[in-house]
Amino acid sequence: MSRRPIIAANWKMHKGPAEATEFIDEFENLIGGSSAVDIVISPAFVALGAAKGALANSDTTGLAAQNCHFEEKGAFTGEVSIGMLTEIGVDYVIIGHSERRSIFGEDDAIINAKAKALHAAGVKPIICIGETLEEREGGQLEAVLRRQLEVGLEGLSADKMAEAVIAYEPVWAIGTGKTAGPDEAQEAHAFVRKVLGELFGEEVAAKIRIQYGGSVKPANTAELMAQPDVDGALVGGASLEPGSFSEICKNAG
Ligand code: 13P
Repeated sequence: MSRRPIIAANWKMHKGPAEATEFIDEFENLIGGSSAVDIVISPAFVALGAAKGALANSDTTGLAAQNCHFEEKGAFTGEVSIGMLTEIGVDYVIIGHSERRSIFGEDDAIINAKAKALHAAGVKPIICIGETLEEREGGQLEAVLRRQLEVGLEGLSADKMAEAVIAYEPVWAIGTGKTAGPDEAQEAHAFVRKVLGELFGEEVAAKIRIQYGGSVKPANTAELMAQPDVDGALVGGASLEPGSFSEICKNAG
């Protein structure tokens, strides 16, 4: 089964519209019009419009939002609906990032509501899962990943899941410089695919792209991507600079 790799930049709370535009102009020059991998950039909400404009002529790079609300509209001060995001033209929405879970209190049920709303709107989710160091050291790795998948993906239709992306991001590897070794990453990804197979059937599970995230940089991209169940990367810090992000995209190809 060959899955086209997908490399996504998660800019978190960095770069407004002007910086996003400047990055994209430089990045697109470095990538040079063709890529062996799907590339996605996720700026902050306020920079999505500018990024979409800067990507207007891109054949390589799509756009993602970092979050969404699950309701269509209403009294939800500070929130952004999926309809607003599709109006701008996002291709993907990241949901369930560990920072949303730990800082903003999002649980698997909220993530499930967002995943369902995205599927209903025809927008592809990038669904983040991953264990803390405490959970890993306590022997809870598989139980945590299984719960996040079973509850987070509950009730989603198998045919739409084939288009979804899962991002495995061990919390202890995010922004710490510690990366899961290629074997550790493969082991977790294989387990995730096994659970996806139980939930949606093996054929669909074989199509779902599973990204690795956590201190991905140009130097460790190729060895991670060489693992059979690692189909891409969700990149934080090293995606903020066009040179390093373009190198990651090239090394992944
Ligand atoms: P870093 O690449 O900075 O570790 O961040 C990973 C991440 O959280 C991407 O979503």
